[in-house]
Amino acid sequence: MTPDPIPASDNSTDQPQTAIDYHGNGEAEDVLRWALDRFSPRIALSTSFKDAVIIHMMSRIRPDFRVFALDTGRLNEETYELADEISRRYHVQIEWTFPRHEAVERLTGTKGMHSFRESVENRRECCYIRKVEPLSRALSGLDAWITGLRRDQGSTRSEIQKIERDQVHGGIIKVNPLADWDTGRMWQYIRENKIPYNRLFDKGYTSIGCAPCTRPVQPGDDPRSGRWWWELDEHKECGIHIRDWTI
Ligand code: ADX
Ligand code: SF4
Repeated sequence: MTPDPIPASDNSTDQPQTAIDYHGNGEAEDVLRWALDRFSPRIALSTSFKDAVIIHMMSRIRPDFRVFALDTGRLNEETYELADEISRRYHVQIEWTFPRHEAVERLTGTKGMHSFRESVENRRECCYIRKVEPLSRALSGLDAWITGLRRDQGSTRSEIQKIERDQVHGGIIKVNPLADWDTGRMWQYIRENKIPYNRLFDKGYTSIGCAPCTRPVQPGDDPRSGRWWWELDEHKECGIHIRDWTI
């Protein structure tokens, strides 16, 4: 196992910014410990619950860790069940953020409930209303956020660092402790530590987002091919992890 090169990327801007003073070994738990000690309580994991490995690690580092989730209004029932299970198991209150109801009402009122199938622009508009804008509200007041992003999740993620500066969100720190993990390692960790996981993974899903935009895949298929399957690979981001994303 090769840890990330350290130090992480640190793009400079005119704003005074928190230094990335990490000098550890780059292992996921070590990166997390540094981040939680450095930024708590102004740091939280942004979870889709597939990244419960991180919740497990955080719970072993300090009991006051924070977790938030974006409820798009279109998540699978299995995801909500998992959220409650994780909340109980790790004694953590999930901080849910919802889309602005006026924006959802306007979108669905003018374009219906499935506009995202009609074009990439419409899909991005829906993701913007249900995820991107709510994310910026969830991040306001934080100095750092943690994600479950991994480099093996496709071309749009191959360059991510374990510790980055997030210029899209005011230059706060973005921590991706699992950046160099692959799917096999994640499942091994889940099994060894009996971490709750989304039951949809037992039904052929390999990546899980909103219910109408995610489907199971065939064995051997690209794991993210079940997300927005009607679009080309290069469009397959919902916008919450993209630097130059427009709708
Ligand atoms: S997505 O951008 O394609 O939807 P993906 O499902 O791979 O993302 O998840 C990557 C990371 O994005 C997750 O580990 C999590 O940090 C964050 N994320 C994705 N969906 C949500 C959500 N609904 N709420 C909070 N964070 C999320
Ligand atoms: Fe809308 Fe689909 Fe994006 Fe969810 S993944 S916010 S339903 S377009």
